[in-house]
Amino acid sequence: MRISEAIRCTWTPQYSNEMLHQPLKSFKPYILRTFSTSISRKYPSPMATASTQNDEAVSTQHKSTQIVPKPIQVAKRLEKFKTTIFTQMSMLAIKHGAINLGQGFPNFDGPDFVKEAAIQSIKEGKNQYARGYGVPDLNSAVAARFKKDSGLEVDPEKEVTVTSGCTEAIAATMLGLINPGDEVILFAPFYDSYEATLSMAGAKIKGITLRPPDFSLPIDELKSAVSKNTRAILLNTPHNPTGKMFTRDELNVIASLCIENDVLVFADEVYDKLAFEMEHISIASLPGMYERTVTMNSLGKTFSLTGWKIGWAIAPPHLTWGVRQAHSYLTFATSTPMQYASATALRTPDSYYEELKRDYSAKKAILVEGLKEAGFTVYPSSGTYFVVVDHTPFGLDNDIAFCEYLIKEVGVVAIPTSVFYLNPEEGKNIVRFTFCKDEDTLRSAVQRMKEKLSKK
Ligand SMILES: Cc1ncc(COP(=O)(O)O)c(C=O)c1O
Repeated sequence: MRISEAIRCTWTPQYSNEMLHQPLKSFKPYILRTFSTSISRKYPSPMATASTQNDEAVSTQHKSTQIVPKPIQVAKRLEKFKTTIFTQMSMLAIKHGAINLGQGFPNFDGPDFVKEAAIQSIKEGKNQYARGYGVPDLNSAVAARFKKDSGLEVDPEKEVTVTSGCTEAIAATMLGLINPGDEVILFAPFYDSYEATLSMAGAKIKGITLRPPDFSLPIDELKSAVSKNTRAILLNTPHNPTGKMFTRDELNVIASLCIENDVLVFADEVYDKLAFEMEHISIASLPGMYERTVTMNSLGKTFSLTGWKIGWAIAPPHLTWGVRQAHSYLTFATSTPMQYASATALRTPDSYYEELKRDYSAKKAILVEGLKEAGFTVYPSSGTYFVVVDHTPFGLDNDIAFCEYLIKEVGVVAIPTSVFYLNPEEGKNIVRFTFCKDEDTLRSAVQRMKEKLSKK
């Protein structure tokens, strides 16, 4: 075995089990320890060499042939990103037995009819590579649902690309349509993959901050930020983490600026079916916008199947071309049986979505009322399964300190939002809770907070 293979064999299990769940800063000594103890018996380790470099016992012949790998290596474009906050908080939750209202995945299962469709597809042998841009049945189902929801008729073969979750739709869109140096506008706070993916694409990011209490669009700031140099605006409605939904008036402002300056819109609409207080509007449906918009979505949130990672991007052919080019070399195709089952899911009657919203409205009421009774200032949330609150009544320095306190002393997990801002200071008073949990779990979490949190 070559040294590089030995390193890989010894490292990989440790990497996946432990390192992925720790902040990057803490990786280094860990790897060095692992490396030196596990490899040294078989191969002269660089660490051993380093620590014994004055030791006469180390032969000079060995030293000259040593390869000294750097323990952690990452490309500059990803250097600043740490382990995602969701992973960190979920691990802390397990350690302290805390109730996880942090990461946005349901603690209940998706509908049987969709799971049965997946099992059926597997049994029928739909198990080999799918067509790169999606199995025809799913492309058609996506196009049909989009027509019903937005009124837009799209060609399932030329304008729909099936991806591995919305995360891959986002990555394929950025990598397929953004050139290094292109300016892209983001609304902060933002879903964490946007900044990392834009960074991979080499984009120049301009942030516009949405501020509490209503997180409305700062129109003048946007007007002065958009110019002929702007390549795209990244829009997420309903919005994670705030639950804000962009109004028709706000979307009209964005649309007219985009048309005037020839700017693209990348619209992340994964929470479109979780719109409680107002109607969801796809910006692609506004006049003149379809030809400059990529609409991205996925199955996970609406069907409580976040682990399936089936998503899609809808765009006119001239933009779809770029998205598909990137998609072809990122994943090429996504899971075949899950795609067939997803087509079945998307053909579900409207009653499914109505019931989903009824269920989530009840959950939301439990959480929001409970948070208010516990003493938080709760900001209004119109969509998604998140609410954000001001934690400052409890006297902790910032959102991260508050979340750590909440996990360790109260036994509940929330997500600090400073990580969703270009300038973390802007999020230091705000934390996010999710209500995609069963009602008992929500009640227990609320009870803990009411009992153990005290205002300072
Ligand atoms: C705004 C937003 N976009 C995209 C995603 C990722 O979606 P998927 O799981 O389909 O990749 C999430 C998941 O939390 C999200 O909140």
